[in-house]
Amino acid sequence: MKAKLSINKHFSISEVDPRLYGSFIEHMGRAVYEGIYQPNHPSADENGFRKDVLELVKELNVPLVRYPGGNFLSGYNWEDGVGPVSERPKRLDLAWRTTETNEVGLHEFYEWAKKADTEINMAVNLGTRGIDAARNLVEYCNYNGESYWSDLRKENGLNEPLNIKTWCLGNEMDGPWQIGHKTAEEYGRLAAETAKAMKLVDDSIELVVCGSSHSHMPTFGEWELEVLEHTYDYVDYLSLHQYYGNQEDDLENYLARSLDMDEFITGVTAMCDAIKAKKHSKKQINLSFDEWNIWYHSNAHDEKVKPWQIAPPLLEDHYNFEDALLLGCLLITLLKHSDRVKIACLAQLVNVIAPIMTNPEGEAWKQTIFYPFMQVSNYGRGTVLQPLIESETYATKDFEKVPYLESIAVLNEEENELVIFAVNRGREALDFEIGFGDLAIEAVAEFSQLSGFEIKEVNTEQDGRIKPVPSEEYTMNAAGITCQLQPLSWNMIRCTLK
Ligand code: AHR
Repeated sequence: MKAKLSINKHFSISEVDPRLYGSFIEHMGRAVYEGIYQPNHPSADENGFRKDVLELVKELNVPLVRYPGGNFLSGYNWEDGVGPVSERPKRLDLAWRTTETNEVGLHEFYEWAKKADTEINMAVNLGTRGIDAARNLVEYCNYNGESYWSDLRKENGLNEPLNIKTWCLGNEMDGPWQIGHKTAEEYGRLAAETAKAMKLVDDSIELVVCGSSHSHMPTFGEWELEVLEHTYDYVDYLSLHQYYGNQEDDLENYLARSLDMDEFITGVTAMCDAIKAKKHSKKQINLSFDEWNIWYHSNAHDEKVKPWQIAPPLLEDHYNFEDALLLGCLLITLLKHSDRVKIACLAQLVNVIAPIMTNPEGEAWKQTIFYPFMQVSNYGRGTVLQPLIESETYATKDFEKVPYLESIAVLNEEENELVIFAVNRGREALDFEIGFGDLAIEAVAEFSQLSGFEIKEVNTEQDGRIKPVPSEEYTMNAAGITCQLQPLSWNMIRCTLK
């Protein structure tokens, strides 16, 4: 079977905002404790952070990490996480029915983020708290002068402000499971007033308002429109969340789930623009896809977890080969929408539905999904080019026309490089042709493929054999490149420009 990607230097979608490769750490399960922080681990540094985890986070090149939740956020008092650790309260976290020791809080996470070369995307609790706690937190983090909260920050050891730029106004407030769940009107009004107060403290911050928890929520659509009606003038991004799974064990349908993400983004963009038109606004609201991933493997285990433990294993999905292929399709979809999706957070980063896992007595290790994320995050920087795809399609239970080929190209002029990402969704090899239009290619610097594994095969701490390997199966001529995309494969082709 044949497929073709055609591009042209002058037909671009957008510059990639590096925050598209963000991730997420919530105080839940073993994400923080035994994940990023484990003072008794042999690799722990002077602050108790696991250096083996930090190394893998740096390999992923994550520019932004959303913190501290998630559902956890909606019952969290940020003040519990500052000041002397020995005086911090133990609290019941009602979202995950575990005990939070508050050993790690704002200052510790800030230190970790510096070591991980990443920015914090801070979230404020709009479940049990509100305007006051949110504006105090901005003052504590970002105010440079003298004031009650910024002085307290200094007393607690941080003289310089943290200068946190991106902030979330609550989490999944449309979900009945959320502590302090609200109607669109209740949330819209609260978010607008909170946003106003936060920007009065620091007008350089950017705010993300909650969209629906997923696209199949019964209030999807109405929620976005009403929330934007209240908040349009005060916020900068609307959030999207979505997790995918292969519960029905239908590979073809599962690999088409990225078409669902595509439709979701297109729909939410239209809603932002509808409110813009209605308000005759000059301002554009962009999107923050601040929770996305695959989540279903761990559900049965998690139902049996006893309540009120400290950092029990939760949401520890073990990702297989087919998950890595879908993750590649999802990344390509985010890039296709890089004109509107400016922030995205792979949820989450360590142990909890994560690319990085830890053994408390052993090493940190890489799940299958680590690789496509790492390659796109490192090499998908620059300008996304408009892809013209020629590919045969197939039909599944939920999708009429699924192209066998999913692909995108990113032009990185700084590195003098053009990078192509491609997934072959089919069980047959694809003869893949890339037409470069007016781009002159010097050579192929790297062609790497992830292919040839059993679809349900996973990596483990002992055996990490699911990883990309170099391929030489390509030919280059003046017009472009032709190569073989192996059946069911994730591919990256890096070309040097003339
Ligand atoms: O990432 C796990 C959970 O998924 C988050 O806490 C919540 O926001 C979402 O439902």
